[in-house]
Amino acid sequence: MVSVVSISVYQAARQRFQQKVVFITGAAHGMGRAHALAFAREGARLVICDACRQYESVPYPLATPEELAALAGEIEGMGNAVIAAQCDVTDLAAMQALAERARQELGPIDIVIANAGIYSFAPSWEMSEQQWDETLNVDLKGVWITCKVSIPHMLPRKSGKIICISSTAGVKGVHSLSHYVAAKHGVLGLVKTLAIELAPYNINVNAICPTSVDTDMCKNQAIYDAFAGGPGQLATYEHMLELTNQINLFPDRDLLPPQAISEVVLWLASDEARHLTGSAIPVDAGYLTR
Ligand SMILES: NC(=O)c1ccc[n+]([C@@H]2O[C@H](COP(=O)([O-])OP(=O)(O)OC[C@H]3O[C@@H](n4cnc5c(N)ncnc54)[C@H](O)[C@@H]3O)[C@@H](O)[C@H]2O)c1
Repeated sequence: MVSVVSISVYQAARQRFQQKVVFITGAAHGMGRAHALAFAREGARLVICDACRQYESVPYPLATPEELAALAGEIEGMGNAVIAAQCDVTDLAAMQALAERARQELGPIDIVIANAGIYSFAPSWEMSEQQWDETLNVDLKGVWITCKVSIPHMLPRKSGKIICISSTAGVKGVHSLSHYVAAKHGVLGLVKTLAIELAPYNINVNAICPTSVDTDMCKNQAIYDAFAGGPGQLATYEHMLELTNQINLFPDRDLLPPQAISEVVLWLASDEARHLTGSAIPVDAGYLTR
C-alpha cells in the first residue's frame, strides 16, 4: 500500500513550479510545446509565444496559429492560467509588450525558456544573405531579445531562471549550416556573459545543447542530406537515423523524444540546479565526447 507520506512527497515533487510564471518562445510546436505541457503539469502559469509563420527558406513546416490556440486550450484544460500570443522573437517592441502583458495579467516572469529557432541549408558560399539574416535574427538576436524583455522582471526580486536552447551545433560545425552553427555558438557566448552580469542578482542563466530530436526540424530531406555530407545526397530518413546512432555514443537512441529535453529544462529551472550558471548542458547521447 502507498503511504500518505509518500503520496505527499510525490505531490510536492510534482508541484515544483506552482504559480510560477514561465515564458516560452517557439512554444506552439516541437520541443517548445513539450516544455509548456511539462511546466503546466507542475502547476506553472504560462506565457507561450510563437511567430506562427513560415519562412520561405525553411524547408519544413513551422507552427500555425491553430497549433498555438490548441496548446493554449490544452493548458487551460489542465486548470492552468495561460497567455498565448502570436509574437515574433525578433520584434523587440512586440516582445516588450508581451512581457508587460504577462506582468499585468499573471505577474512578473520567473522563468524564461528562449527556445524559438529555425534553420535552412546551403554551403556557406552559396547561402543567401536572406538565409543568413533570418537564421541569425531568430536564433541569436531572438534569444537576446527574449532575455532582454524578461530580465527586468527578475532583477528587483533577485530571483530568476533563464534557459537558452543552443545545440550540439553550438559546439561543433555542421555541413550546410554555417549560419545556424554561428548563431548557436553565439547563444553560448551570450549565456556566459549573462551569467556574469546576473549572478549578483541571484539569476541563473544556462544553455542546453541537444543532439537530434524528434521534431519537424529533424525530419526533412535537407537535414538527411546535410547529415550525409551536403545537398543532393538523396539520403533517407533511415540513413539519417543510422548516422545519428553512429555519432551518438548510445547506438540505439534514434532521435531523442522532445520530452527528454523538457526533463532537463525543468531541472535547470528548479531549485535543484541553483548552483549552476553559465553552463551548457549537453543532452546529446554522448555525441560531444568525440
Ligand atoms: N530538433 C533538433 O534536433 C534540435 C537539436 C538541437 C537544438 N534544437 C533547437 O531547439 C529549439 C526548438 O527546436 P524544435 O526542434 O522544437 O523545432 P520546431 O521547428 O519544431 O520548433 C521551433 C518553433 O519556433 C517557432 N519560431 C520560429 N521562428 C520564430 C520567431 N521568429 N518567433 C517566434 N517563434 C518562432 C516555430 O514556429 C516553431 O514552433 C530550436 O532553438 C532549435 O534550434 C533542435
